[in-house]
Amino acid sequence: MNLKEQINRDSLPRHIAMIMDGNGRWAQKKGGERLFGHRNGVESVRQVVEAAGELGVEFLTLYAFSTENWKRPRTEIDGLMTLLTSTIANETRKLNENNVRLLVIGNLADLPKSVQKHLMNSVNFLSGNTGLTLVLALSYSGRWEITEAVKRMCQDARSGKLDPDSIDACLVESYLATSFMPDPELLIRTSGERRISNFLLWQLAYTELYFTPVLWPDYRKEHFYEAIIDYQRRERRFGKVDEKRAITLNN
Ligand code: FPP
Repeated sequence: MNLKEQINRDSLPRHIAMIMDGNGRWAQKKGGERLFGHRNGVESVRQVVEAAGELGVEFLTLYAFSTENWKRPRTEIDGLMTLLTSTIANETRKLNENNVRLLVIGNLADLPKSVQKHLMNSVNFLSGNTGLTLVLALSYSGRWEITEAVKRMCQDARSGKLDPDSIDACLVESYLATSFMPDPELLIRTSGERRISNFLLWQLAYTELYFTPVLWPDYRKEHFYEAIIDYQRRERRFGKVDEKRAITLNN
């Protein structure tokens, strides 16, 4: 049986988050510039978006540019921004054919105006689609997001819109950039690093973590299927006791 057929469609993760890592090392291994790695990473993005859409995953969040990435050399940042703009311009029609909706989270005001414009055009163009929601995290970090949420909560408390006594986890969530979607059930990180790197810090509280040594530009649909199969073999208990086991233990 091939990998795709081994996936149980009835227990798919609704939301998969991905840290696309290893573009630089991939390029270095081939004797190229880091941007060569990023450019080749676009095909991997295509593959996971297609695979997630075909399977019926509802949300796919890709960590495309972190707050920390602004510290990279200017040429790499500029190259990544150009790549982002051209990829969005080239792929929007195909995304539309595949019924994909696009959303962006992060401090978008930091991005060059032209990138913001391209992104917003595509987001609007794809807004009526009802298949996979592709979420690009751009100029994003978990600490940035939580800090912004705290700031807005304080502003609302000051203006009387929010009663501090009413603050609970649900209310905090409603102030996060991700309030429109469920927390990810599965996080995949490529390139052998085993860190969260300031990604979705609040949302990953109960997420299954999957690390693979594959460098991002080598990542293909089969790798994505493998991660989902691994996830489906795990038991998810959210800190509770497994009900079946609890019954056995009580009897
Ligand atoms: C991490 O590899 C990757 C990035 C910072 C950028 C990811 C961008 C893309 C895959 C290109 C286009 C994306 C979209 C959504 C159109 P790294 O440079 O940190 O690799 P290294 O750890 O080997 O140095």
